[in-house]
Amino acid sequence: MVNVSERLKELLAGRSTRVCVLTGAGVSAESGVPTFRDKDGLWQKFRPEELANMKAFLANPKLVWDWYEHRRKVIRDVKPNAGHEALARMEAHFTGRFTLVTQNVDGLHARAGSKNILEVHGNIMRSFCVSCEKFADENFLLNLREGDKAECGDCGGLLRPDVVWFGEMLPAKVWQKSVEAAESCDLFFTIGTSAAVYPAAGLPMVAGENGAYVVEINPQETEISSHVDECLRGPSAVVLPEVLKHLPMEN
Ligand code: OAD
Repeated sequence: MVNVSERLKELLAGRSTRVCVLTGAGVSAESGVPTFRDKDGLWQKFRPEELANMKAFLANPKLVWDWYEHRRKVIRDVKPNAGHEALARMEAHFTGRFTLVTQNVDGLHARAGSKNILEVHGNIMRSFCVSCEKFADENFLLNLREGDKAECGDCGGLLRPDVVWFGEMLPAKVWQKSVEAAESCDLFFTIGTSAAVYPAAGLPMVAGENGAYVVEINPQETEISSHVDECLRGPSAVVLPEVLKHLPMEN
C-alpha cells in the first residue's frame, strides 16, 4: 500500500499542473538492468576510472568498447517495466505539461512510449567517431560481430558510445531544457536515483527552490531525501502504478 499525501493527490488532479520527472538507474532495475551504486551495482564490480572516461578509452579502446557492447546486449534483451509504462501514461495525461529528464542511457523510456524525454547522459545505442564526430548508422551496431573493429565508416577513426563520461559536459541544449522544466514545474518527481551525480542530482533542488512540490520514489533513503517534500518508499514499478490511480482518468 502506498500512502499518497492530500497535496500530491491535489496536484495530480490539477488541470494545469506541470510535471517534471527525473529518473535514474533504479527505474530500470526491475527490467534487469543493473544500477551503479547498489550492492550489486556496476560500480561495485568495475572501476569508473578504467571504463567511463576518455583517457581510459584512448588507453584501451577495445576493453571500453566491449564493456559497452556487453551492456547493450543486456539492454536489447530486456523490456520496459510497469514503472516505465506508468510514466508514459502519466505523460499522456499531462500532455504538453510533462517533461521526463533521464540519466539512463538504456532507451527504455522511449520503448515504453514516453515522448518528451531529455537524455542528459546520452544514449548507449548511439555511437560517434572521436575524430570526425560523425554518428554511426543505427544498424551498424546491430550488425557488428565480435572481433569486428568499431571504426568510423567515413574516416576510420575510433567509435565511442554517445554517453557522458566522467569529466565531460552534459549535452548543452538538453541540459538547458532540463533546468527550464525543473524551474517551471509545479510537481517534480525524483525516481530511482541515488542523487549522487551532479549536475542532474541538483534538479530536485532547482524545482523546490522555484516552488514545486518535490516527491522522491525510491526503496532507499538517498542524499536528497531530507530535502524533498514527500518520500514514497518502494520500487518504482510498484509505486508509480499506485500513484497513477490518483489521476482523474485512471479512476
Ligand atoms: P545509482 O546506482 O547511483 O542509484 C540507483 C538508485 O536506484 C538507488 O538510490 C537505489 O536505491 C534505487 N533503486 C534500486 N532499485 C530500485 C527500484 N526497483 N525502484 C526504484 N529505485 C530503485 O544510479 P543513478 O542515480 O542513476 O552516470 O546514477 C547516476 C549516474 O551515475 C548514472 O547516470 C551514471 C552513473 O555513473 C553516467 O554514466 C554519466
